[in-house]
Amino acid sequence: MAHKAWWKESVVYQIYPRSFNDSNGDGIGDIKGITEKLDYLRNLGVDVIWLSPVYKSPNDDNGYDISDYQAIMDEFGTMEDWEELLDEIHIRDMKLIMDLVVNHSSDEHKWFQESRKSKDNPYRDYYIWRPGKDGKEPNNWESTFSGSAWQYDKRTEEYYLHLFSKKQPDLNWENPKLRQEVYNMIKWWLDKGIDGFRMDVINFISKVSGLPDAPNPEGRKYVGGGKYYINGPRVHEFLYEMNEEALSKYDIMTVGEMPGVDVEEAKKYTDPERKELQMVFQFEHMDLDSGPNGKWDLKPLDLRDLKTNISRWQTGLNGIGWNSLYLNNHDQPRIVSRFGNEKEYRVVSAKMLGTFLHMLQGTPYIYQGEEIGMTNVKFDSIDDYRDIEILNMYQEKVVEGNQDLSKVMESIYVKGRDNARTPFQWDASVNAGFTTGKPWIKINPNYKEINAEQAVSDDESIYHYYRQLIELRKKHELIVHGDYKLILPKHDKIYAYTRTFEGQKLLVVTNFSEENVEFRLPEGIAFEGKEKLIGNYPDANDNYQVFTLRPYEARVYKGV
Ligand code: NOJ
Repeated sequence: MAHKAWWKESVVYQIYPRSFNDSNGDGIGDIKGITEKLDYLRNLGVDVIWLSPVYKSPNDDNGYDISDYQAIMDEFGTMEDWEELLDEIHIRDMKLIMDLVVNHSSDEHKWFQESRKSKDNPYRDYYIWRPGKDGKEPNNWESTFSGSAWQYDKRTEEYYLHLFSKKQPDLNWENPKLRQEVYNMIKWWLDKGIDGFRMDVINFISKVSGLPDAPNPEGRKYVGGGKYYINGPRVHEFLYEMNEEALSKYDIMTVGEMPGVDVEEAKKYTDPERKELQMVFQFEHMDLDSGPNGKWDLKPLDLRDLKTNISRWQTGLNGIGWNSLYLNNHDQPRIVSRFGNEKEYRVVSAKMLGTFLHMLQGTPYIYQGEEIGMTNVKFDSIDDYRDIEILNMYQEKVVEGNQDLSKVMESIYVKGRDNARTPFQWDASVNAGFTTGKPWIKINPNYKEINAEQAVSDDESIYHYYRQLIELRKKHELIVHGDYKLILPKHDKIYAYTRTFEGQKLLVVTNFSEENVEFRLPEGIAFEGKEKLIGNYPDANDNYQVFTLRPYEARVYKGV
């Protein structure tokens, strides 16, 4: 019997506040802007809103560098605005989860301001300080945002660790005092009535003691030290403690964002018996179109890799833990441009991708704009980009490294995080209805055709299709809890699977290509179709055994 829980039956909608809706004309999305749009979200049918950080921040990494965990960023509004937002969400029977960013803070946080003052400051051990080694950084680790993961600080002549930007110093979880501060802060928010947390890179919080150099066979200046801090030695102990001290006292949803987590480790994080977190947000499927040199090393997706990967997660966590289902977020390019076709098949391929995802086991996440099929963007000039990851990479490769400009720009077009961060396209009016001022980042020029007003008024839109996908999940427990089984594992264009729950079955068939391809239900698969639940070509027939799938076609049949 599947273990039931509200957070398993929910659909989450992620808001990146800076780019969602600007209520005061300063060109930056804000909290009141979100409140104005709650009915739009309610009508879509989502249950939970995940808000990317809205805390006080100097915005080196758009709010993922927090200088006060218990205050709201000025650009986004006030604590009263936030309280109003929470009330209005609850009035509409939705829930709110907040982003918890506690692997690191901002260097402008008062803890760090104190910490850097002297070696014996009471806050010194809130962060990870080390003396240099032979006049160089303490080890060879590279920051996720390029360059060394260490920053020298003149005042005390030591280096501090920052796995992200140098304005994001890593917190020292080995220090029990720091941990208590974090738990108190968590409880403070939960006592305000929020419904849970998404936890930023939470599997990075425990570093291997001694912080050794990473192997460096190619003799590079800096290398990824991931294996020394991803799923580190004390991470489960820390999360168990967090659960015991804070999380377990509330009926909430907790999801750990975990780059580099695999299924075995994810089971440990999410097995309810172990009392850590409820679900993981993992990245393996988002790495399948990257070559050996990381995200900027472009490689086309081989559908068979996606099948192997998703199937491993679907069967691996089944009956033990729980997975998040997503194809977009604020760190990823737009999925319709990535695994779909943003040109002639934009609408149909976006619906196909939504079908593929929403029929899986786990909790689905929709990222703002996904439901209207927003696409990647190509800005001509690097000056139009805002993301620190893009800008640092460009500096390293083009400005300092003399690498081919057009190749680097191409990788930004395909993989850059700003693809997801252009303002939400509300309507065809100036600035897509996002702001009356000058937007902090340019709007995607396709907003006149692709916008929410158009989508809501068109019965055949991606938006209304997503609404139906969400409705189906609410109606059929089978979609939430059913066991997953892949069929046609070797097919390079069709992704098909079944789900089974308490004698009922679902057959999901999707075409990831722009060709017509024949589907034939394999003989060994016991499935007797009763009704077609949904499909992205309205005229599809009820024959589920043999049929031709048109470009990016998706069909879902229910049966026994
Ligand atoms: C993951 C977040 O999703 C990303 O946006 C951020 O840059 C890093 N963690 C650092 O906080």
